[in-house]
Amino acid sequence: MNNEQLTERLAQLKSTAQAVSQHAYAPYSQFPVGAVVLLKDGRQFSGCNVENASYGLTNCAERTAIFAAIAAGVSADQFAGVVIYTPSQPAYAPCGACRQVIAEFFAADAPVLSFSDADQRHWQVQDLLPDAFSFQPGGSLRAKLEG
Ligand code: THU
Repeated sequence: MNNEQLTERLAQLKSTAQAVSQHAYAPYSQFPVGAVVLLKDGRQFSGCNVENASYGLTNCAERTAIFAAIAAGVSADQFAGVVIYTPSQPAYAPCGACRQVIAEFFAADAPVLSFSDADQRHWQVQDLLPDAFSFQPGGSLRAKLEG
């Protein structure tokens, strides 16, 4: 993929993440988040946060997107990157629970990008959760399985 195609793809991913945030069920926080996971074959799955009156049951946008992909039959070695929209300044980083779930499926150097209306930040999975809990200590489960 050349630079122009990459820029175009990124713009489309961001637009999808922002669009899905509009489906968020966030009556308690009023903080609608959208996330898109990109697969190695180019397919995409999106998700939004879904809150609950029992607050701790809330599911974040990132986990909704990943779980939707798994439920659709995507295999664990197919996850390439994550794009997140947060309605905030600065763009917020994913929560700890989502970092652990991201570490389960994505390579240690997979890109995670978070953007808002006025900001954009990016990391690799290993920056967000160094030494993630894993039954394969020393690296993300995904990196070990691929390695
Ligand atoms: N939220 C996400 O969807 N993703 C994150 O990484 C952090 C937080 C949601 C959960 C809750 O519905 C709202 O944002 C405020 O915490």
